[in-house]
Amino acid sequence: MEKHIYPIFDRMLQRSDREKLLGQRGIMLWFTGLSGSGKSTLAIALERELHNSGILCRILDGDNIRTGINNNLGFSEADRVENIRRIAEVAKLFVDCGVVTIAAFISPTEQIRKMAADIIGKNDFMEIYVSTPIEVCESRDVKGLYKKARQGEIKNFTGISAPFEAPKNPDLSIDTSKYTLEESVNLLKKAILPKITSF
Ligand code: ADX
Repeated sequence: MEKHIYPIFDRMLQRSDREKLLGQRGIMLWFTGLSGSGKSTLAIALERELHNSGILCRILDGDNIRTGINNNLGFSEADRVENIRRIAEVAKLFVDCGVVTIAAFISPTEQIRKMAADIIGKNDFMEIYVSTPIEVCESRDVKGLYKKARQGEIKNFTGISAPFEAPKNPDLSIDTSKYTLEESVNLLKKAILPKITSF
């Protein structure tokens, strides 16, 4: 604990007060998967669907966070750890507000995802593996990054020249090459709704 720092959490309203106000439970939906696997697309569609059902959500997304709070970080192992550490700390604040918080980051290693779960709290953390095979991600190549990685223009590219460790025990796995977006969102909704509406 830092010296001369006096947290005031005991005088602040509690998470349960905010959850009651909103009529929903806060939760972290942590999407992990390769670049181009469909994390952001799923997150956006899920957010819209939940929002239309009256549930307050907030997406934290790789490319957005990396142009803002994390604009000083690259893709070395150490920077990826710091990227996810900051995101998890921010996400924890959202979850504490009772918000359904949706993170869409590659978060490539077991260690990185465990750190995020430890920061946020395992009970509030749902790991969703977007398991679309790399061949499909590469053939989509929405941002043209796989091509650049193959040509050596981008170093440390996940799946090509940097590791991606598939989650061993995710709460849910979705291969977006096997399901339509609507089917995927329905699968997600079915798994998530009981957790955020049960009081
Ligand atoms: S993470 O590994 O630290 O979790 P994050 O999700 O924030 O990654 O950012 C991934 C996005 O950054 C990719 O979707 C891609 O658009 C871009 N990117 C740029 N360089 C790389 C790289 N070397 N490896 C992976 N993604 C990269």
